Amino acid sequence: MSETNSLELINKLSQENLDQYCSKEDIELLVLHTLDINRNTLYRENPSLDDNELKKIAHFIERRNLGEPLAYLFGNKGFWNLDLFIDENVLVPRPETELLVEKILSLYDSKPLRLLDLGTGSGAIGLSLLSERPSWEVYCSDLSLKALKVAQENKKNNLVNAHLVNANWLSAFEGNSFDVIVSNPPYVDRNDKRLLGDGVSFEPTEALISEDRGLKDIRHIIKTSKSYLRDSGCLLVEHAPEQSKDVVDLFKDYSYSSIRLFQDLNGDDRVSFGKIA
Ligand SMILES: C[S@@+](CC[C@H](N)C(=O)[O-])C[C@H]1O[C@@H](n2cnc3c(N)ncnc32)[C@H](O)[C@@H]1O
Repeated sequence: MSETNSLELINKLSQENLDQYCSKEDIELLVLHTLDINRNTLYRENPSLDDNELKKIAHFIERRNLGEPLAYLFGNKGFWNLDLFIDENVLVPRPETELLVEKILSLYDSKPLRLLDLGTGSGAIGLSLLSERPSWEVYCSDLSLKALKVAQENKKNNLVNAHLVNANWLSAFEGNSFDVIVSNPPYVDRNDKRLLGDGVSFEPTEALISEDRGLKDIRHIIKTSKSYLRDSGCLLVEHAPEQSKDVVDLFKDYSYSSIRLFQDLNGDDRVSFGKIA
């Protein structure tokens, strides 16, 4: 095949890949990415593809059909207002995590404050917040050096001035030094069937799994954050909807005040909040 039009190709490949991971929507995105065009151009101009482009798309489809997430194939993912570089060393940022960003922005204006994004991965949460509130001092930390390299790339690409720190949770920080601590930690139990979901087996285990029904890291963060927060400081943690009672109980056990649950766009409890008096 020497020349093929995009829309005909998308239809043909969707038929060939029925019942596979690579959906028609994915194939359209693969074509847009390969041609570096947007949907308007695709539908207005129906551009043709040459042999190299066809080979590239065929290779992408092969990888996608093995379950690899589109974000790893493209090397990027949109999150909040940022286009993030993503590779297999970081979790693919999820839309529900944007709830953490939204809540923090609604709680705090541009007055200077110190914020820590614990387990930053690609930098999604901390860098999005800093891009909206350049007057804040933002620390992004992770145990994984490979993840921090990704966050470093995103910091550079998005021209934001975050401090990147390699640390086991709060161990590298001084007590009583943050106004806000935010975290989307690993919270999936190792037997949870979510680990069998589309693309999940390609993501780093240490970004997903936590022992003790997925609560071990959340418990550690809630317990230790208290002494790293300044007066009236707050902690926000993402968790699975079915963990909400356990997480709220942990905030109570460690005597946080103003404890609240926030719901994601599906109406599921997704973020717990607590302040220190
Ligand atoms: C669920 S991912 C979240 C990544 C990113 N914040 C996001 O929302 O897309 C959890 C992150 O916590 C990091 N992590 C796991 N254990 C850690 C530890 N003991 N100390 C610091 N970071 C840790 C992982 O490397 C991973 O990047």
